[in-house]
Amino acid sequence: MYARAAATTVALLGAGALVLPTAAATAQPHTAPAASGTARHDRPLVVAHRGASAYAPENTLAAIDKARAMGFRWVENDVQRTKDGELVIMHDDTLKRTTNVEELFPDRAPWKVADFTAAEIAKLDAGSWFGPEFAGERVPTLKQYMRRVSHNHQKLVFEFKKPELYPGIEKQGLQVLHKEGWLDRRHVKSRLVIQSFSADSVKTVHKLRPDVKTGFLGTPAVADLPSYARFADQINSTHTSISADYVSAIHDLKGPHGKPLEIFTWTVNDAPGAVRAAGFGVDGIITNKPDVVRKALRED
Ligand code: G3P
Ligand code: CA
Repeated sequence: MYARAAATTVALLGAGALVLPTAAATAQPHTAPAASGTARHDRPLVVAHRGASAYAPENTLAAIDKARAMGFRWVENDVQRTKDGELVIMHDDTLKRTTNVEELFPDRAPWKVADFTAAEIAKLDAGSWFGPEFAGERVPTLKQYMRRVSHNHQKLVFEFKKPELYPGIEKQGLQVLHKEGWLDRRHVKSRLVIQSFSADSVKTVHKLRPDVKTGFLGTPAVADLPSYARFADQINSTHTSISADYVSAIHDLKGPHGKPLEIFTWTVNDAPGAVRAAGFGVDGIITNKPDVVRKALRED
């Protein structure tokens, strides 16, 4: 399956749909992305985690529509790859928790994303598990997802989920983003962050597209932060692992684009947590309940 996906990527590149800059281009000085297109006084940004996932099924188009309806521009997602090489939006590496895959394909345990074709995944109901009003909601392909985010005039924290399972997914993901118009200057400057728990994956993204803003998911030791700042613009840590001192240590460094290193913390779903994180000076709060976080920040 990986060979097929790699072949698809090569074929697209060979057809002239070049996503990636040439070696000469990568050697040019970077165009530093702005701090997510907002001034520091607008911080922290509120990011709807997997969409507004407390109110609509996670990682579906309904979840990003819900975020938009609630007035949130920033959404977060998780990107994985099907058996036949399509990129889809899914958090778990199996389809079991958030779709009716067990019902439709009872003999296909453990129902891994990577064991199903895009056509099979397109048949799944990704909404009923969350609530009957979402019955028929689908697992979006990355292409479908990007079109909806664009339509909604939203901004995206894009996560390569378990990239070690999907060799070459970074190049492939960037290719889709390019085709959907998300690697132009306007988007790169203020609408896109690409993050992963895999430092290797973040490094790969930075190498392939040095202009794109990146985030490493984790809480590295303070002494190790400078090495992360060479390829990541953000250190995105779970909110239970951070302190004011840790946030200061992040801000004291500069990322690969010469701007202060940032931190988007996750997943903060209550008012005290939001106030605490904001008090530390974080740049963004990733939350299933963006309305709760917004209200807490306004009242603080
Ligand atoms: O964006 C941060 C968060 O999404 C990382 O954790 O497991 O929800 O993808 P997870
Ligand atoms: Ca995620």
